Amino acid sequence: MPSIEVTPDVHWVGANDRMTDLFEGMWPITREGVSYNSYIINDEKTALVDLVKATRVAPFLRRLESITDVHKLDYIIINHTEPDHTGALPFVREMAPQATIFCTKKAAEMINNFYGISENVHVISDGETLSLGKRTLTFLPAPLLHWPDTMLTHMSPDNVLFTCDAFGGFGALPGYIFDDQSPDLNYYKQEALRYFANIVCRFSPAVKKAIKKVTEANLDVSIIAPGHGLVWRQSPQTIIDCYAKWADYFNGDSECGVTLVYASMYGNTGRCMETVAQGIATEGVPVDVFDLARTHMSYILPAVLKNKGIVFGVPTYEAGIFPPAAHLLDMIARKNIRHRDAAAFGSFLWSGGAQKEFKAVAEKLAWNMIEMQEFQGGYKVNDVPWAYELGRTIARHLKTAPAN
Ligand code: FEO
Repeated sequence: MPSIEVTPDVHWVGANDRMTDLFEGMWPITREGVSYNSYIINDEKTALVDLVKATRVAPFLRRLESITDVHKLDYIIINHTEPDHTGALPFVREMAPQATIFCTKKAAEMINNFYGISENVHVISDGETLSLGKRTLTFLPAPLLHWPDTMLTHMSPDNVLFTCDAFGGFGALPGYIFDDQSPDLNYYKQEALRYFANIVCRFSPAVKKAIKKVTEANLDVSIIAPGHGLVWRQSPQTIIDCYAKWADYFNGDSECGVTLVYASMYGNTGRCMETVAQGIATEGVPVDVFDLARTHMSYILPAVLKNKGIVFGVPTYEAGIFPPAAHLLDMIARKNIRHRDAAAFGSFLWSGGAQKEFKAVAEKLAWNMIEMQEFQGGYKVNDVPWAYELGRTIARHLKTAPAN
């Protein structure tokens, strides 16, 4: 698609990526794709805000050159150094060596580490401004969104906030870039939640700090222009509120619902899971069910973040927890998703061991263990009552437990 006007003299010149299977080499985007959003401000001075991944340089440069002569570019604003936003930097630097890079101190170090670029780099101070003519940029360092190098850039008087990873989401842009043009905003909100749970979640306190910083700086925000996903011009507050809510989920202030993850080798734990799910549903509590062995954790993590309840139904495997469950637990621990109400069940045949491993991770994450049950060998008729009650018990607990 051609470049797209965001406001007068400001154009989106980013690129869709529909060919990368794994974002960051691990999060699936084969079906959804992703956009790398870049913006050119064509005032008396020109400023390029963020760039694209190296694999998408060609369409990016075509769009950029349709708006301005790259060789005469004045400034390059780097809000975040991760190569999905800076892979094109060496190409632009070669075409426009005179363009001064504006970034944080950490970003300057990273740009040098990644690309060997150290000349003509200006390290910004907190709140520093840069006049482009009719417009002024204000730089607000906001570390850990999602690396220590990150900052937000505000443009007045149009009140556009360029946020890079913050307020971004997965999902390529299907011919339009704005929230008000989307007939399925829920899809983009869900992909933003998946992006948040996969990429930003561990840095939730930084999200809260950044939102507070923008508020305290008394900067009006009419448009949120992130580095991935939709540009929010009709309702920027929608994505700000979403991110604030998801950062609260991280702190345990999550919703009354259960993430029921299970895996089953020969169907016994699987049958037990159906009974547990029935017990939860009987209490009117929403339940999201995932087969661990067949669902990438990228799609499970949003539910783990959203729901206060988490139930693992997995068998013992070689005296430990079923390996796909160990993998998910490890990622939940890395994301530091704490303060959940938890339960576990599953089959064993001789030694057991799954529940011990689950309990160790649950304790580390300060999860409130509501109930644990194991059964030996096959799932039998006399197992049904306790499995049903396990589901009802955690559901009832969620309905009555006070919020964090
Ligand atoms: Fe989209 Fe942290 O890079």
